[in-house]
Amino acid sequence: MSTVDSFRLDDRVAFVSGGGGAIGSALAVALGGAGARVAVADIDQARVDAAADRVRAAGAECIALAADITRETDAKRVVAAIVERFGRLDIIVNAVGGGAGKALFDAQEYPRDAWDWIMEINLRSTLVATQAAVRAMIQGGRGGRVVNISSVRAQLGINAGYSAYVAAKGAVSSLTRQWATEWAKHGINVNAIAPTFVDTPQVAMLLDDPAFKASLVSRVPLGRVGDTSDLVGPVLFFASAASAFVTGQILTIDGGLTATQ
Ligand SMILES: NC(=O)c1ccc[n+]([C@@H]2O[C@H](COP(=O)([O-])OP(=O)(O)OC[C@H]3O[C@@H](n4cnc5c(N)ncnc54)[C@H](O)[C@@H]3O)[C@@H](O)[C@H]2O)c1
Repeated sequence: MSTVDSFRLDDRVAFVSGGGGAIGSALAVALGGAGARVAVADIDQARVDAAADRVRAAGAECIALAADITRETDAKRVVAAIVERFGRLDIIVNAVGGGAGKALFDAQEYPRDAWDWIMEINLRSTLVATQAAVRAMIQGGRGGRVVNISSVRAQLGINAGYSAYVAAKGAVSSLTRQWATEWAKHGINVNAIAPTFVDTPQVAMLLDDPAFKASLVSRVPLGRVGDTSDLVGPVLFFASAASAFVTGQILTIDGGLTATQ
């Protein structure tokens, strides 16, 4: 296999949980473009259908599944549908999450309902989708790849009411290392990307504030916020044979922000 071919995903089946989202849909298109057959699942039917159309327009086979990925029954149903349709599952990308901008509270007052919601969509979704996917990978006996989406917030505090989000993403980073350790014996590599702000509707409220954006960008050596396209190369690396000897790693994608801290 040539070096470039080791990034190809021909014959593989990729499941993007939260594939209707800004980041999830961009990654689904990229995985399809690299040769994978793709399944996208999301709680929002219209978004997941639109994402599947984009993947198909890029030339890949794709199925769209509406599901609440915080529910174990839904996650199991989605994985069963993927295996029934494609006969295998090789890659899961966990892209359900976010919500931090809608749940900003002082740390000493952080309310339980907001805490539980942020934990559910960022941590529980990653847990139940991965458990369902990895059971199928182990049964398939061909190994696999898990790619989690953590955040630079797992490493850096932010003076903006983010307690639940940093706790959830910290747990996603820790689980990445734990799962890598436990599932290596099954040939399943587990890694995560940890982006700083990526220009998506999820963070538009913050990035639309010129003072906030200017202060943020001034601390990023590469002088800008992220774009969904910045996540594609790292995720294809983690999803493919190119990362055969890499597991349990959290790749920060932040234009150099954390290098300055
Ligand atoms: N945008 C950023 O700046 C940024 C930075 C670092 C990390 N992240 C992480 O990247 C991931 C994707 O973020 P995004 O910006 O694409 O957000 P997004 O809101 O565009 O995508 C999230 C998707 O998850 C779906 N979803 C929510 N709850 C669900 C549920 N219970 N079941 C199934 N689907 C559900 C939503 O419908 C949405 O399509 C999140 O984990 C987020 O925390 C985002």
